[in-house]
Amino acid sequence: MTIDPKALPGVDPHTGSREVDPVTGYDTTGHDWSGIRELNTPFPKVALIALAITVAYSVIAWVLLPAWPLGRGYTRGLLGLDQGEMAVERLDLIDSRRGEWLAQFEDPDFGQITADEVLMARVRPAADRLFQDNCAACHGAAGLGGPGFPVLADDHWLWGGDPETTVETLQVGINATHPDTRWAQMPAFDWMARSDRRALAEYVAELPSGQADHESPAAVLFDENCVVCHGDGGGGGLMSGAPSLTDNAVIYGQSEASVMDTLRNGRQGVMPHWSDRLTDAQINLLAVYVSGFGIDAEEGDP
Ligand code: HEC
Ligand code: HEC
Repeated sequence: MTIDPKALPGVDPHTGSREVDPVTGYDTTGHDWSGIRELNTPFPKVALIALAITVAYSVIAWVLLPAWPLGRGYTRGLLGLDQGEMAVERLDLIDSRRGEWLAQFEDPDFGQITADEVLMARVRPAADRLFQDNCAACHGAAGLGGPGFPVLADDHWLWGGDPETTVETLQVGINATHPDTRWAQMPAFDWMARSDRRALAEYVAELPSGQADHESPAAVLFDENCVVCHGDGGGGGLMSGAPSLTDNAVIYGQSEASVMDTLRNGRQGVMPHWSDRLTDAQINLLAVYVSGFGIDAEEGDP
C-alpha cells in the first residue's frame, strides 16, 4: 500500500507542500475551513508523562494494596494493609487509653478527686456524656427533673447527695430489680376517710409556704400516719427515700390535687439500677458529677 504524500497532515492537498503557520511556526493540518487553518500541535509531553506515572502508580498499587475484587474476596496486596483492622486497632487504643483514665475512678478517694480542679475539668465533660446518654431521658439534660423524676441539680436529696450515697443509689437503683435495691414506697391511704385525706392534702399543700396550721386535726393525722417516714413536721431528712414535704423540691407536685392523688394511689417511683449497665468506674464518675450539681446550683451555676 502506498501512502499519498498529499494526504499527510500539514500537507496542502492541492499543492502537496507542507504548510507552516507563520505566527507560531507550527505545521498546520492542511485543512482549510473558509480560510481558517488548524494548527497541528503535538499532544503535550507533560500530560503524557503524567499519564505514564499514573498508570505506573496504579500497577504498583495493584501489587502492593488491596485492589481487585475476586468474587467474595479481593486481592490483598503484598503489604497486607487492612483499613478495617487499622480502625479496630485505633479504637482499641482509644479504649485502652480511656480505660487507663477511668481506672483511677475504680476505687476513688472522692474528697481528693473533687478537690483536684485540674482533674475535675476532665471529669465534668466525660461524666456529662455518660449523663446525657443514660440519665437525661428521665432527669433532664441539666438534671432539672420533671413530674415523677426528682431534680438532681439542687441540694435536696431523697437519699443523700454525697458521692458515696449516690454511688449506692446508682448501683442498686430505687424500687428496682436489684436484690439490694433501695425501697421508696409511699403507701396508698385509700383506707382513710376521704374527708381526712382532703384535710391532710390541704395541710401538706400548705407546708412549703409555712402557712400550715400545726394545731389542726390534719396535723394530728399527719403525726400519726406520715411522720414515721416524712419526719417531724414533714421536714424529711430521714434519708429513707421519703422526701421532705416542707421545701419546694417536689417530685410529683405538692398541690392539693396531686397530694390527693398520692394518698389515694401511693407512689413508687422507679429508678433503674446501673450495676449491670455501667462499670464501677463510670458509676463513680457519675456520682462525682451528680453530687457536684447541688454545689454548683448553690453557686448559681447549674
Ligand atoms: C427511667 C428513668 C430514670 C433514669 C434513666 C435515671 N433515673 Fe435517677 N431516678 C429516677 C426516679 C424516678 C428517681 C426517684 C425515685 C423515687 O421516686 O424514689 C430517681 C432518683 C435518682 C437519684 C436519687 C436522688 C436523691 O435525691 O437521692 C439519683 C442520685 C439519680 N436518680 C441519679 C441518676 C443517674 C446518675 C442516672 C443515669 C445513670 C439516672 N438517675 C437515671 C428515674 C431515673
Ligand atoms: C412508709 C413510709 C411513708 C409513709 C408512712 C408516708 N409516706 Fe409519703 N412518701 C414516702 C415515699 C418513699 C415517698 C416518695 C415516693 C416516690 O418517690 O416514688 C413519698 C412521697 C410523698 C409525697 C410526694 C412528695 C413529692 O415530692 O412529690 C407526698 C405528698 C406524701 N408522700 C405525703 C404523705 C402523707 C400525707 C403521708 C401520711 C398520710 C405519707 N406521705 C406517709 C413514704 C411514706
